[in-house]
Amino acid sequence: MAINLYDYVASIPDYPEKGIVFRDILPLMANGEAFKQATDEIANYARDKHVDMVVGPEARGFIVGCPVAYELGVGFAPARKKGKLPRPAVSSTYDLEYGSATLQMENDSIKPGQRVLVVDDLLATGGTISATIDMVEQMGGIVVGCAFLIDLKDLNGREKLKGYDVKTLMEFEGE
Ligand code: PRP
Ligand code: MG
Repeated sequence: MAINLYDYVASIPDYPEKGIVFRDILPLMANGEAFKQATDEIANYARDKHVDMVVGPEARGFIVGCPVAYELGVGFAPARKKGKLPRPAVSSTYDLEYGSATLQMENDSIKPGQRVLVVDDLLATGGTISATIDMVEQMGGIVVGCAFLIDLKDLNGREKLKGYDVKTLMEFEGE
């Protein structure tokens, strides 16, 4: 029987600051059945998209993306926080509440024309995933889908993903 993934998200009020409810996916990762079900749901979403590569941003995007890549039988390319990659890289910078952040990928990690599934744990403002998509497209990759465990709907991340196919397993709003 399918399990309810919402039961495996911990909600922590007033973290990291007052008024914010932090959605913690570590309980989902810690439960084999829940982790497998979430992985299967994303892999099943992607299965008919003829994905060549899965891409996920550091750090929680690695946890979600790697088992999906394994299940699809394709490779995984990480989008790393700036300054971690030893080889030539593409970069993309996105806005944070205060300042900005930069992600990087090795510049041959996606080949032109490859079909890419972009995965992360959570869609909030969409900055992280937009930067990730930007790098895939700089390399000539085709983003055929974007998948997340959680969509924080109040932050309108989907607005930034207009024109892309988006799958989210859980949605939270109005808290
Ligand atoms: C969190 C989360 C997403 C991102 C979503 O990552 O894992 O990647 O924020 O927010 P956005 O849609 O507004 O960009 P964080 O930068 O906290 O780093 P982590 O994955 O290394 O914990
Ligand atoms: Mg993250």
